[in-house]
This record gives sequence, structure tokens and C-alpha cells, in this order.
Amino acid sequence: MTSSCPPPIQAAPVNLVVFGATGDLAMRKIYPALASLCKNGLLSRDSRILAVGRKDFSTRQYARLLDEKLAAAIPQACMDDLVPRISYLSLDPDDPESGLALSLALGELDEESPKNRLFYLAVPPGAYIPLATMLGEAGLGREEEDRSVSIVVEKPFGRDLPTAQELDTVLHRYFKERQIFRIDHYMAKETVQNVLLLRFANALFEPVWNRRYIDHIRITAAETLGIGHRAGFYDQAGVLRDMFQNHMMMLLSLCAMEPPSVFKAELVRDERSKVFRALRPLDLERLDEQLILGQYGPGMADGQAVPGYLQEPGVPADSTTPTFAWLKVYLDNWRWQGVPFHLCSGKRLEAKHTEISVQFKSVPVSMFRKTEGDIVPPNRLVIGIHPHEVVRLEVQTKGQGSSLCLQGQSMEFSYGAGSGLGRLDDYAKVLLDCITGDQTLFWRQDAVELCWGFLTPILDRCDCPDNKLPLHTYAAGGPGPKAAQRS
Ligand code: BG6
Repeated sequence: MTSSCPPPIQAAPVNLVVFGATGDLAMRKIYPALASLCKNGLLSRDSRILAVGRKDFSTRQYARLLDEKLAAAIPQACMDDLVPRISYLSLDPDDPESGLALSLALGELDEESPKNRLFYLAVPPGAYIPLATMLGEAGLGREEEDRSVSIVVEKPFGRDLPTAQELDTVLHRYFKERQIFRIDHYMAKETVQNVLLLRFANALFEPVWNRRYIDHIRITAAETLGIGHRAGFYDQAGVLRDMFQNHMMMLLSLCAMEPPSVFKAELVRDERSKVFRALRPLDLERLDEQLILGQYGPGMADGQAVPGYLQEPGVPADSTTPTFAWLKVYLDNWRWQGVPFHLCSGKRLEAKHTEISVQFKSVPVSMFRKTEGDIVPPNRLVIGIHPHEVVRLEVQTKGQGSSLCLQGQSMEFSYGAGSGLGRLDDYAKVLLDCITGDQTLFWRQDAVELCWGFLTPILDRCDCPDNKLPLHTYAAGGPGPKAAQRS
């Protein structure tokens, strides 16, 4: 069947300001994403990039740095297209003159006519408030009739409910909610977006997508990597802040939300927030039935011996930060009453796989008792997010032969088998949506706060010095804590 996807429309020209322009995020994600937009003809020729950093570079020196850092990741033709549009501004946000300097630099980029502006804070979270304040105080948050202004922040949005609210208060002092783009790169994955199309563009699934037919849903994001050089961030965050507060909750909302009447950003976001509002608060007295935390010990990865979390450079020897969590959540609403959602994510596990597995209930009675016993294996729908981009329905069929026997079979569709034409990677997609002003795939503040509100009681327990939550050690490169394998 042919795809009916129209090619995306090129966005209006934009002046993109990248704060943190010499940092890891800019080099690893933002520039490759911009190059991909250039290559696909999705970045208007008149768009300009203002790279802002503390380091004292000229534009020419910065261009040389880009050449060095990006040569392996971006084809030369794309670099030739992109680099001439980039200028560098060295800026110290603590300097009271910095807002003015930025305004002047942006004015020059406008050339003949005003262009939309996008401020991307590719900086550590501690710099969000000072930078947003600097922009706001310089009047750079204000939109004009012929110019939109947006600001992009990456997760983590705070480290708990109060700090998330504090960040939001500052952002809202200078920007309206529709100007704020809170990125969750999981949402930009094609296979994640596909969850809603699979559910709501097929008459087949919705009638059984509820507590009557579904036994449980398991959402897994397993990684083989350790924490690498991110000890400073990770030891403060742990898996609950790093993966659950954002990506896992987002996947949960897509599995559980109601269909909006129209596929429009605010309506989709309303439905996602309703899911978070239905989260049943965790019972802190019986937390061990709903939460298993783990931390990787030494083990093997890719055939090599690797250190445990406590031996990673920069991690305190007595750290109790979890690198693995299994969390069972319930939603108190009509559709999902009594259906457990198992959320599981960890680092240094045996394989990288992110998937949603929908386990249906067994048939009410087995009419094959004589041959097959009482239990007929139930159906399962697996939505592979990464790296196996599949949708697989596991069904029972008749095994070939003269006697009657059941045989489990899979009906599988593979995303990877498509042409891939016009496909954008995660960051190119989110950047394009920021430029075009489409907030469908981004977090809205009410949802951020609902999720923090849900998780903060357990985060408080984890952060507390006399934390009594058990922490299960698991071998790097293995299946994770034993206790979680039974869940
Ligand atoms: C990031 C986390 O948001 O997501 C990382 O900070 C994690 O710790 C990464 O490794 C996982 O993303 P992906 O796309 O590789 O599953």
C-alpha cells in the first residue's frame, strides 16, 4: 500500500539562537538535526543560526571547531550548506550588558525583515533560569505581529515538584505557554508517534483496548550503556528522574489516553494530562509491591569487563542512586481500573530494547482441553520502539499435521522495512516542530507537574539520608535484579 504522507512544508525563516553552542548537546544532536533539515529542504534558505557560548571565539574559529567536531557525523555538502549561516557570539550571561549584546546581534541577523526567533537552551538545567531571565529582561521574549518567539528547554524540568514550579514561574514571567517547548526526544520517535495512529486509525484495537480485554501493559526501556561520563548529573538524578519522570510517563500516556476529538496539539495534550491526573498515588506503606530499585555492579558488556556503578568515575563510593527501576502503576478511571502498567527501565542491561507490550487476557474457556489443557496462551501485541521497530501481534493458530495442536505465531509489521524516505531522526523532528510552532509532541506544564506530584513522594524517600528502600545490585550485562524478573 502506498503512503499518503504529503511532504512537509518548509517553515518560515527563523533566527535560531543556540545557547551552549560548544557543548555536547549542540554538537551531538542539534547540528546533525539542522543538517538533516537542510538536506531535506526543510530549513528555509534565509534562516540563520546564532551560536552563543562563553568561550571567546570568532565566527571563523567557531566554524573551524564545527568542522573538526562534525566532520564524521555530517556529510560535507550539508556542512557547506549549514556553516555559512552560522555566526558566533561570545556571551557571559552574568554580565548585565549581555541582553543588549544579544539584541544587537539578533537585529543584525534580521537583515531586511524581522524573522521568527527560537531560543534553544542547550545548557545544563542550572542555567535555564538565568538565561530565561536575561532574555526576558532584555525584552526578547516579546512577540510582535510579524514575529513569533519561542524558547526550547530540555528535560529535566526541575528535580521535583517545587523546582519544576519555580522554573515554570520564571519562564511564564516572560513567555506564554504556547511559546515554551519542553522537549522529550522519545515523543519524536516515529515508532512512538505510531502508537496513536495504531490505536486510533484502526477500528480493530480500540474495542479491546480496556480493562475487559487487557490483562496488563508492560513498558520497557532497557539500555546496555552505563552512565559514561555523566556521573555529575546522573548521581543526582538516578533512573527515576532521568527516564521515568519524562520518557516512561510519556509512553504510558500514549498507551492509556482517550482519543481526542481532533488531532490538535492542545486536545492531544489535554488527553495526556487526563491520564496523569488518573494516576493512583503510590501506597508508601506497601511500596515494595510496586517498586523495585536496582544498581548495576561490575559485569560484562559487549564481551568486555565493565565497572559497576560505584566504580564509575565521579560516582561516590557509597552512592545509593538507582540505575534500574520497575514501577507498577494503576490508573483510576473507567477504562483502566485494575489493569497494572509495569514500567521498567535500567542501564547496563543485557540488550538495548524499548518496547510496549500489551498482554491480553486469556480466552474465557479452553475448548481444546483434551489436547492443550486449560490454558491457551493469551494474545500479545508488541510495539517495538527501538531498535526493533516492529508491531507484532502474537496469536494462536493450528499447528500443521493430522492431530490438533495449537501453535503460537506472530503477525509482524516492520517499520525498518519501509523506504525511510522523508524520515527525520528524533531531534530533527522536534526542531522542525519548534520552528513551525507545533506543540503536539512536547510536554505541557500541567502534565509535568502531575508527574512530579506522583513521583515526588518516592523521590523524597530515595533522597532521604536514612533511605530504607531496598536497592538490589545486578550484574552489568545481565537481565537486571532478580526481584524484578519475577514481577
Ligand atoms: C536520555 C537519558 O533522556 O535518554 C539517557 O538522559 C538515556 O540517560 C537516553 O540513555 C535514552 O534515549 P534512547 O533514545 O537511546 O532510548
